[in-house]
Amino acid sequence: MEKKTILSGIQATGALTLGNYLGALNNWVEMQDQYDCYYMIADLHTLTIRNNPEALRENTLKLIALYVASGLDPEKNTIFIQSHIPAHTSLSWILNCYTYMGELNRMTQFKDKSAKHADNINSGLFTYPVLMAADILAYNADLVPVGDDQKQHLEITRDIAERFNSIYGETFKIPQVYIAKDGARIMGLQNPTAKMSKSAEDPMDKILLTDTPDDIRKKFKKAVTDSENCVRFDKENKPGVSNLMSIYGIIKNKTMEEVEKEFEGQGYGVFKTAVAETVIERLEPIQKKYNDLLENPEKLKQIYKKGDKKAKEKSDKILKEVCKKVGLVIEE
Ligand code: TRP
Repeated sequence: MEKKTILSGIQATGALTLGNYLGALNNWVEMQDQYDCYYMIADLHTLTIRNNPEALRENTLKLIALYVASGLDPEKNTIFIQSHIPAHTSLSWILNCYTYMGELNRMTQFKDKSAKHADNINSGLFTYPVLMAADILAYNADLVPVGDDQKQHLEITRDIAERFNSIYGETFKIPQVYIAKDGARIMGLQNPTAKMSKSAEDPMDKILLTDTPDDIRKKFKKAVTDSENCVRFDKENKPGVSNLMSIYGIIKNKTMEEVEKEFEGQGYGVFKTAVAETVIERLEPIQKKYNDLLENPEKLKQIYKKGDKKAKEKSDKILKEVCKKVGLVIEE
């Protein structure tokens, strides 16, 4: 049986967090044998806010290095840079003509980002979900692993695809959200009721994948808990401790009951130290590989060039079919 296709991407903004790793990359690594996976760096999406050009370029390459360092095998996965594949922007334009203003107006991320960047509400920010739809539909992806905040964008992708199919006949596969086995959302360490975000202002709220062991120890030590001093999973009443338990459980492959048992009768001090050391141990080889790759730009280039080539082949075919259906003259 043919493998199902997976596509996902991360924007090239700043340093990734432990939340990105445990919530996304770590799951992607587990899918690499079972699926035909496409993972891109969404550098075009990053342009919807103002960036320092040098930093954007650097972040893009760093993110490729991090994909690979986290365990994504470039031989098994197609790792590529969104802006290197013209089919994304071409298809995005076409799909724009099949997407209604009213639909885009309802996107909560657009509302949030407009509020946050009130001085730069550009039309790219508005049509952001259409580019995302193009990313997905250009590969006929079956499954798209994304966090909760992107589910609405996947819904609009499905709507656009269905609309297109109903006008022109079966063209696009209708993609589904991929819910990971360890779907736990990693929350902030200082504010455990909100997702650990790379854009969080408080550096103590997030563990960066590039943090030193000392930073990591310090941040877990200061992590918000509660006064019960009992390691018990209760997201509602004990969001801080529950979040630390999730982090520990995912890395150690233990259920929450097992984690409770392991720390029974022990206080938060011991528990927090154990969580910190587990995270340090997991990140150490990743950091080493990441640093090695960054020192070897030729290797990095080889990786994305290989991915770019495969991504281009696949998406060109689908774009061509779309162009033909809508009435553009195409070269056979
Ligand atoms: N918008 C996504 C995010 O910010 C990134 C992204 C861009 C993406 N294109 C995609 C995710 C296609 C999945 C599929 O998280």
